[in-house]
Amino acid sequence: MKKAFITGITGQDGSYLAQFLLEKGYNVYGLTRRTSTQNFERIKEIIHHPNLELISGDLVDQQSITFALQDIQPDEIYNLAAQSFVKASWEQPVLTGEFTAIGVTKVLEAMRLACPKAKFYQASSSEMFGKVREVPQNENTPFYPRSPYGVAKVYGHWITVNYRESYDLFAVSGILFNHESPRRGLEFVTRKISNTVARIKLGKEEVIELGNLDSKRDWGYAKDYVQAMWLMLQQDKADDYVIATGETHSVREFLQIACKVAGLGDYEKYYKHNKKYDRPAEVDLLIGNPEKAKKVLHWSPTISFEELVTLMVEKDLEFELKNSN
Ligand code: NAP
Ligand code: GDD
Repeated sequence: MKKAFITGITGQDGSYLAQFLLEKGYNVYGLTRRTSTQNFERIKEIIHHPNLELISGDLVDQQSITFALQDIQPDEIYNLAAQSFVKASWEQPVLTGEFTAIGVTKVLEAMRLACPKAKFYQASSSEMFGKVREVPQNENTPFYPRSPYGVAKVYGHWITVNYRESYDLFAVSGILFNHESPRRGLEFVTRKISNTVARIKLGKEEVIELGNLDSKRDWGYAKDYVQAMWLMLQQDKADDYVIATGETHSVREFLQIACKVAGLGDYEKYYKHNKKYDRPAEVDLLIGNPEKAKKVLHWSPTISFEELVTLMVEKDLEFELKNSN
């Protein structure tokens, strides 16, 4: 049985990846940090799975990662843990650097010492393209990050490449464009919209306050994207890949479709601009070119933008109906 170690297992991607690997017959080990209240909501369906083990640790604590890897001797390591909310990275730039940048080196160092034959996946991001130098963006597009988060991810990307080249480790960087799901955190714009629109429909809210509606993102479905992570580690050669749908849509379009799906009609009746959601520097346009992943990994997205919005709104309508307060 193969063994996989996942940092960030309680997050959106970590929870889907763990489920995916358990279904493939892996033994899965998930790193979780100590919290005063448990946050296992996203892994509640798999928490009692006999092949899942949770390990206590934190990206800022080198020993917790080194000891975990020494004990487990995993075949595959997926480094998904990060301070992943772009807006918060201006409020906590140092913490973002510690977790999202230096944290990567800590996992790589632990792997180099404890299990150098393992395969390593780094969760890199289209935020690295920031103020884009080329449209669409591919593996060779130069980076121009626009937030402390984006800067930290550029570090994480290059340290992964550097460890691959310096120590001959199997280390890959997946440059993933935005991917969403009903498990997305409520602070990200897609889930904020799907959830608030559902609450408006059920009479729990009257308005939705947002920032910039004109930015455009290449939005895919998280379940498709975790499969791409796994595929990258099944190759004979370590390499970096862009994972994207190749389509871009504005926040406004997401909101328009969400209101339509919920049967609310015109979004302008509910939308209010609140400048507190604007960013000091914006990423205006992201659109990825996934040709390399399609050709080499035989990966492609399975659902359209409209289907993704519909799925998220319908799930939030169900969720808000169940939680009637
Ligand atoms: P997420 O839902 O925010 O999950 C982040 C995970 O990291 C959580 O499990 C969190 O634990 C954990 N974590 C944070 N700080 C940690 C620390 N110091 N030590 C240990 N664990 C820590 O993020 P996601 O959407 O699943 O994204 C997964 C990864 O992909 C992230 O690295 C993100 O930056 C990157 N990425 C995401 C996207 C996207 O569109 N979703 C696109 C490109 C790249 P708690 O539950 O305890 O907070
Ligand atoms: N969160 C949020 N809240 N964003 C808003 C709002 C709002 O009220 N109003 C407008 N937006 C705009 C933001 O300004 C941004 O242009 C866009 O919606 C998307 O914001 P987020 O959903 O927070 O995602 P992100 O693109 O900044 O970052 C996500 O994708 C990256 C990959 O490109 C995160 O998942 C990152 O971790 C990931 O790396």
